[in-house]
Amino acid sequence: MKNYVAPSLLSADKEHLKDEILRVEALGCEFIHWDIMDGVFVPNKSFPVEAVKENAKVHKMVNDVHIMVADPMKVAPEFIEAGADYVTFHFEALECPKCCKKLIDKIHDLGCKAGISIKPKTNVKVLKELVKYVDLVLVMSVEPGKGGQAFIPSALGKIKKLRKWIDKENLNCLIEVDGGINDKTGQKCRKAGVDILVAGSYLYGHDNIKERVESLR
Ligand code: DX5
Ligand code: ZN
Repeated sequence: MKNYVAPSLLSADKEHLKDEILRVEALGCEFIHWDIMDGVFVPNKSFPVEAVKENAKVHKMVNDVHIMVADPMKVAPEFIEAGADYVTFHFEALECPKCCKKLIDKIHDLGCKAGISIKPKTNVKVLKELVKYVDLVLVMSVEPGKGGQAFIPSALGKIKKLRKWIDKENLNCLIEVDGGINDKTGQKCRKAGVDILVAGSYLYGHDNIKERVESLR
């Protein structure tokens, strides 16, 4: 089990993206989380591919790109080209496990790590057969689309189940959780077996960001 922290840039000051990235790198964060929204799969839009391209190499953290888009087959390669280290797409965008496997292979063929995500209402069982092919599973603990929402506790049972499957088969797959993470919900997720905590509004926009990052360890 790892103990990584992934600040989400969705809550960062978009006018000073580079500074916001370097700030959390200096605090020892291992991953930087990019939320990509197309206005279709979720109502909002967020970063264009150029934002990732411009900033992917200004730091040494892992570029963790979470694509909340309706057409991940088309979008994933664009973000790999822009410098993503991990591209995580939504099971719900494709629904069919065979199509998910196809996209995972495509991401790997392009030299990138592949992640798959499920929304709060999706049963974790849909991942049972896919978990052996991916490098990361992202459990959404809020409805995807915006920051600052309250943590949905059903994510904890999903994390526990994934931890069991992954450890039993000795798989090389990280478990990440995203949405409503703070010192309290973060510790609950750590206990359940999560490797990476994504946090947006808990970290950005606060003077004591250093203590806040530490509280997630
Ligand atoms: C939600 C995004 C999250 C978001 C988390 O759709 O995937 O990454 O930035 O924000 P907080 O930590 O504020 O819940
Ligand atoms: Zn995210």
